[in-house]
Amino acid sequence: MFVDTHCHLDDEKLKNDLDTVVKEFRAANVGIVINIGCDAATSELVKRQAEKYDGMYFAAGIHPMDVKDATDCDLEKIVELAKHDKCVAVGEIGLDYYWDKTFKDKQKEYFAKQIALANELKLPINVHVRDAMGDAVEIIKANKDKLTYGGVMHCYSGSVETAKELLKLGFYISFGGTLTFKNARAAVEVAKFLPIDRILTETDSPYLAPEPKRGTVNAPKNIPFISARLAEIRGETLETVERAVYENTLALFKKIRA
Ligand code: NI
Repeated sequence: MFVDTHCHLDDEKLKNDLDTVVKEFRAANVGIVINIGCDAATSELVKRQAEKYDGMYFAAGIHPMDVKDATDCDLEKIVELAKHDKCVAVGEIGLDYYWDKTFKDKQKEYFAKQIALANELKLPINVHVRDAMGDAVEIIKANKDKLTYGGVMHCYSGSVETAKELLKLGFYISFGGTLTFKNARAAVEVAKFLPIDRILTETDSPYLAPEPKRGTVNAPKNIPFISARLAEIRGETLETVERAVYENTLALFKKIRA
């Protein structure tokens, strides 16, 4: 059974035909899908979607780009959602300096606050970092006593050195469609180096469809292409990668029932 640990099925491109999206990923043997919220409203939406389908879970959190207008009231809403049976992580949370650098301090504040919330809720974190890895690792290190339940770095694009630091901090590393792209040199190095018990797979649907589907609307049904590329890079069989990712998923997201 394959796993998609990070997708956005509340997106306009997917939500209107969710029955088909689900039917297709089940047909592709993708048995566990984690639908990720980006603020209080989308976290509520992904919760409602997850309630409808077996094998679908969700994460509630405020994405770094969405903390700009966020308030404590939104954090309270996230806490309420996170208590749901099918909420398996707090996320996506993190830092993103790519689009807008004008509220870095608020991003850092909300990242740290949500790490603390996850710990109180006994949940792992799902972390998004773009153009901010140095600051992100610093915050993770400063809060490592609040990372009892671990975390995953989603769509990892950093160096092997940073990956080593993250492993020491108890993190899993998740790979998406970008691993299958021709220019994925850094990610390929990391995928080769990682111990098999720290690897996860994701699509980040509807974004970043893997080869040979690049340029199309991404969906969880495309996970096998990413797993196959991981297996090829690591010199392992597809079955080995498939089984390891499944076991890693159950080890990190403890609220998922096998
Ligand atoms: Ni995402």
